[in-house]
Amino acid sequence: MREFVRLMRWSTIVIVISLTCAPAEERNKWTTVDWLRQLNYTHELHNVTTDDGYQLQLQRLPQVGARPVLLVHGLLSSSVGWLCLGPDRSLAFQLHQRKYDVWLANLRGMSPYGRHHLELTDVMSEFWRYSFHEHGAYDLPAIIDHIVALQAREKHDDVANEEEQKAKQSLAAHRVLLIGHSQAFNAFLVLCALHPRFNQHIQLIQALAPLARLHRQVRFDHTHVRDIMKFVKKRQKANKYELFPPGELKRMCRKKKELCEYYTKNLVGSAQSNKKLLDIFNYDHLLQGGSAKELRHLQQIWKSGDFIAYDYGPIENMQVYHGVEALSYNLSQISVPIILYFGETDAIATPQGVHDIYAHMLSTVRNVRRIAATKFNHFDFLLSSEVKTLVNDKLIELMEKFLEGNLPYVIE
Ligand SMILES: *[C@@H]1O[C@H](CO)[C@@H](O)[C@H](O)[C@H]1NC(C)=O
Ligand SMILES: *[C@@H]1O[C@H](CO)[C@@H](O)[C@H](O)[C@H]1NC(C)=O
Ligand SMILES: *[C@@H]1O[C@H](CO)[C@@H](O)[C@H](O)[C@H]1NC(C)=O
Repeated sequence: MREFVRLMRWSTIVIVISLTCAPAEERNKWTTVDWLRQLNYTHELHNVTTDDGYQLQLQRLPQVGARPVLLVHGLLSSSVGWLCLGPDRSLAFQLHQRKYDVWLANLRGMSPYGRHHLELTDVMSEFWRYSFHEHGAYDLPAIIDHIVALQAREKHDDVANEEEQKAKQSLAAHRVLLIGHSQAFNAFLVLCALHPRFNQHIQLIQALAPLARLHRQVRFDHTHVRDIMKFVKKRQKANKYELFPPGELKRMCRKKKELCEYYTKNLVGSAQSNKKLLDIFNYDHLLQGGSAKELRHLQQIWKSGDFIAYDYGPIENMQVYHGVEALSYNLSQISVPIILYFGETDAIATPQGVHDIYAHMLSTVRNVRRIAATKFNHFDFLLSSEVKTLVNDKLIELMEKFLEGNLPYVIE
């Protein structure tokens, strides 16, 4: 243990030097593991396979025996968003320094950790047939089962063989604290609605800028959605099922700077500093991935105003859901305590949209918190220079109050 502490202290010193020394262009190409290696931060890599054959890599900043916290990235993002501001500001490090066992999820489609499958390759169209439904129905179950099983094993490492049976039986007692950004909340809802046993495995979810129902709640209109869907169709016609391969957004933004600035101002970024506005597009692995089906599913929810499974049309729906209509998720199954966070100027998870989740969709919301800044947008939850004080410190404080049983009921 003392060795470990010394190592950590060392790496903190090293970090500062190495981060400022690394050439910026190189850093832009870094993956999650590149960041961890560069920082010499103790980490483990875990592979899990989903029931439908996707092989996902999880990263862990281990604190064996401590409470596991699972961080789940959002739409078009990946695990790198939880650590790319470094050990002083990013949530993954902050949680680890506070002695949580930190796990970083990578859902299917994300480069490079969600790009393997037992039978498919990522140039096949079948590989890209997913939306948040599959993230919740297959990816999260595999990931959480892995963490819970390992937690049980590590806890019972020292017990004799005859105790093993008991340890296995007590799997249900092992739980994770979930933190999700953006679309991760939809995946969580799907998970707990389709597989209610996970209500017992998730002690608390804290959802940053959660999406759920989008109708009349996002801050963009029919023209924007039509433009985006036109783009999606064009890509599909050209047999490009992945919407934004790593680096693609960067190239697009160089070519069409104004359009890029427009979207950034409206959809992401705090718009606090125009100079930094386009920075996020420079990081290959930060904003990337995404399947056409993923955006189509969101478009369907936006259009219908219902939180429903993917609508294949009446004929295919018959085969998939045994009814002409798309499956409606049974949200009354959900019993996990929920804390929601919203940014005042978030164009996707608008204040109104987040309040709608609390008021009309779910009965287990324990807190709704406004980020204390006049401007705070969708990706600021990961990238704002003040993310530590505005988001992370608050989130850890509320989580610990919850764990002590002292979380006050606050709706902001
Ligand atoms: C990380 O640790 C390795 C060996 O443990 C060392 O060789 C390397 O210089 C360290 N990296 C940095 C950036 O300090
Ligand atoms: C995890 O999966 C990756 C990619 O398929 C593979 O290269 C690596 O060897 C696997 N690691 C383990 C520990 O199985
Ligand atoms: C939804 O889940 C609740 C709670 O488990 C159950 O009582 C109800 O019958 C379910 N509704 C449907 C339509 O399946």
